[in-house]
Amino acid sequence: MIDFASFYQVIAKSRLSHWLHTLPAQLNAWENSERHGNLPKWQRVLKKLESYHSQNVNLHDRVEIGLPGEISDGHTKKLENLLQSFHPWRKGPFDLFGIHIDTEWRSDWKWDRVLPHISPLKNRYVLDVGCGSGYHLWRMRGEGAELAVGIDPSALFLCQFTAVKQLGGNDPQVHFLPLGIQELPPLRAFDTVFSMGVLYHRRSPIDHLYQLKDQLRDGGELVLETLIVDGDENTVLVPDDRYAQMNNVWFLPSPAAMIKWLKKCGFQDVRMVDEAITTTDEQRKTEWMRNDSLAQYLMPDDPTRTIEGYPAPKRAVFVATRGSED
Ligand SMILES: C[S@@+](CC[C@H](N)C(=O)[O-])C[C@H]1O[C@@H](n2cnc3c(N)ncnc32)[C@H](O)[C@@H]1O
Repeated sequence: MIDFASFYQVIAKSRLSHWLHTLPAQLNAWENSERHGNLPKWQRVLKKLESYHSQNVNLHDRVEIGLPGEISDGHTKKLENLLQSFHPWRKGPFDLFGIHIDTEWRSDWKWDRVLPHISPLKNRYVLDVGCGSGYHLWRMRGEGAELAVGIDPSALFLCQFTAVKQLGGNDPQVHFLPLGIQELPPLRAFDTVFSMGVLYHRRSPIDHLYQLKDQLRDGGELVLETLIVDGDENTVLVPDDRYAQMNNVWFLPSPAAMIKWLKKCGFQDVRMVDEAITTTDEQRKTEWMRNDSLAQYLMPDDPTRTIEGYPAPKRAVFVATRGSED
C-alpha cells in the first residue's frame, strides 16, 4: 500500500535528511486532500495485490518481476484483471508474472537513447521529475542507483508504481512521491536529476530549469528530454491551442534555443546527445491504453504534421552539469 513512512526512514540518515523539514506536512496534506476521485478505489485494488510478490526481479534490460508460470493460471488471470483497473497504462512496458503490460509508450526505447550518454548511475542518488508510472526509476535502479526517487502529481501513476513495487517485494531504495517539481525545496543533494517529457508542460520553462538545478549537488548531472522543433537559437514554437491534441503544451524550443536556455541558467558542459522523431511504433494504442494515441494526432495524409498543422513530434536529449561555483 502507499506508505511514505518508509521513505522518511530511508532519508533520515542520508544527505536528504533536511527534506524531512517540509515533506511529511506536504504528503499529509496530499493524503487528506479530496482531489483524487478514484484513489480509494485504486487503493482497494492495491490491497488485493498484496498477496502477489516475487523474488524474481530483473531490472537490467527490462522491468520483469515474477516469472511466467510462477503462479497458477487462475491467479495470473486475476492479477491481470486487477492490473487493468489502473488503465490507462502509458509508460512501460512491464512483464509481471508473465503478463506483458504493453503500454502506450515504448519507454524502454527512450531509455536506450538516454543511457549511453549519461554518467554511470551506480551508487548515485537520482531524482526523476515527472516519472509517470515509474518505469525509468526501475531502470535507474537496475543501473545501480543507490536511491531512485520519482515525483509526479498523478495519483493514478502513483498507484501503478505502487503495484509494481509491491509485486517486486517493496525495494526500499525506490520511491514515488505525488508532488510537482515546484513543490520541492531546493535540496541540492541529487547526483543526477532527470526531467523527461516535462519541460513543454511547464508554463515557465526557465523556472523549470532553475527548479531542476536546485535539486542537484555541485557537479551533479541534469538529463533533460523534451519535444523540440527545427530552427536557430531564437526559434521556439508556442502552439496557439493544442499540440498533437495535448492542451498543456507551452514551449517547444529548437536544440540551439534549449542549449542557450540551459547555459543562461548557469549549467555547464551543455550538450545535445540525441535527436529522434517519435514514431507510431513508439507511441500507440494497446490493450493497456485503449484511448487515442499518436496515429490519431497526426494529419491522416501527412504524418510530418500534427492534426493542428504543427511539425510532428520530435524529441531530443540534453545533458548538462551543475557547476561547483554556483
Ligand atoms: C510526458 S510524461 C513523461 C513521463 C516520463 N518521464 C517519460 O519520459 O516517459 C509527463 C509527466 O510529467 C508529469 N508532470 C506534469 N506536471 C508536473 C510537475 N509540475 N512536476 C512533476 N511532474 C509533472 C505528468 O503527470 C506526466 O506523468
